[in-house]
Amino acid sequence: MSLDELREQIDSMDGEIARLLRDRAAAARKIAAEKAASGLPVRDPAREEAVIADRVRRAEGGYPAHSVMNIFRAIVAETVALQEGELRRRMCAPACPGPSGKRDELARIVENRELRPGFNRMRLAAPGADRLFRPGQFFQIAPRPREGSPFLRRPFAPSELTPDGLAFVYAVVGGGTELMTRLRPGDDAGLLFPLGRGYTLPAPGSRAVLVGGGCGGPSLGPLAAALAAASVETVAVLGARTAEKLVGDDCLGAHVGRLLSCTDDGSAGMAGTAADALLSLLDAGPADAIYACGPTPMLRAVAKIAAERNVFCEVSLEERMACGFGACVGCAVEMLTRDGAAKYGRVCRDGPVFDAKTLAWRA
Ligand SMILES: Cc1cc2nc3c(=O)[nH]c(=O)nc-3n(C[C@H](O)[C@H](O)[C@H](O)COP(=O)(O)OP(=O)(O)OC[C@H]3O[C@@H](n4cnc5c(N)ncnc54)[C@H](O)[C@@H]3O)c2cc1C
Ligand code: FES
Repeated sequence: MSLDELREQIDSMDGEIARLLRDRAAAARKIAAEKAASGLPVRDPAREEAVIADRVRRAEGGYPAHSVMNIFRAIVAETVALQEGELRRRMCAPACPGPSGKRDELARIVENRELRPGFNRMRLAAPGADRLFRPGQFFQIAPRPREGSPFLRRPFAPSELTPDGLAFVYAVVGGGTELMTRLRPGDDAGLLFPLGRGYTLPAPGSRAVLVGGGCGGPSLGPLAAALAAASVETVAVLGARTAEKLVGDDCLGAHVGRLLSCTDDGSAGMAGTAADALLSLLDAGPADAIYACGPTPMLRAVAKIAAERNVFCEVSLEERMACGFGACVGCAVEMLTRDGAAKYGRVCRDGPVFDAKTLAWRA
């Protein structure tokens, strides 16, 4: 499909997606022309257009023909890739104003140390951050803001908020987090916060269960603290594949009445998954709300249990992000309307915390 054919197809569509599609295709063409005009060693405009067309073709293959969302995703992916250089410059510059109502600043690193192999904790000075964040909201970090980070910012959720700043636990999984391990106390990192939508707190006197999987566990720390302050009786489950990957007990322990650890291989705590542990807790006593953060299979299992037991449940999703504040639509997630029809949301803006009932849980 050529861009002109695509444009025609887009023009025949209505609504928000069509508008975004038009914008993205236009942006891609503009960037291609600008790159060519500035003599950057990149693909020429015709080649840029061909790449977009190829992405569209590949996205359509194997999916229902004219799948709006797949075309949409293909263009977004390509546009984000094309824009990465420009985004990197804009989003890592200390002077960048960022989206309105957010703080976009350089934050001094106070601590950055290995907690256990593969997991680090970083502490950043950001006075007053605790008054801005709601539990469940996240921030984006640029590891080397002065030199120009080689990556787009990466999203993380605080595990602890104090009047002086924030701390978070991160798993070292790729280039960005590996670069973060090399930062030292005294270095600066770019920080954009607070982002996204947080958890809904239940009424005082309610009973809540927190379920954390892997590096999702520590990020439940601010929620656990808020629930304790709101007199909500809280128990928590922390799950991981093995004892070496179990993190977060120090973030949750002080705020919850009971903390149950579990590992898939039984090397620490109860043998079984976090969903198994949740079931055993619900069998022991009812809950008014379940809050979960962790890998998608765990969230899916937790959402299913909550639906079967008719318990209010919110989950925090992880999705790869570019802008982090709703501009690039690179973090689309399939949702359901009240009458069961499909719609798409943005994890960074409509989430990362979602009512589990509103998500289309696919295997
Ligand atoms: C709202 C939010 C909060 C998060 N909070 C935390 C946190 O507190 N601690 C933590 O360790 N991680 C957290 N993550 C995930 C974290 O952002 C990614 O692990 C990180 O961006 C990876 O960067 P990288 O350059 O090291 O990896 P890359 O080289 O970009 O990727 C390495 C691998 O990680 C996967 N990956 C990359 N980004 C994500 C992502 N956003 N979600 C899921 N998988 C991803 C890739 O598919 C790939 O398999 C959060 C993500 C979101 C969206
Ligand atoms: S990351 Fe850009 S819209 Fe969500």
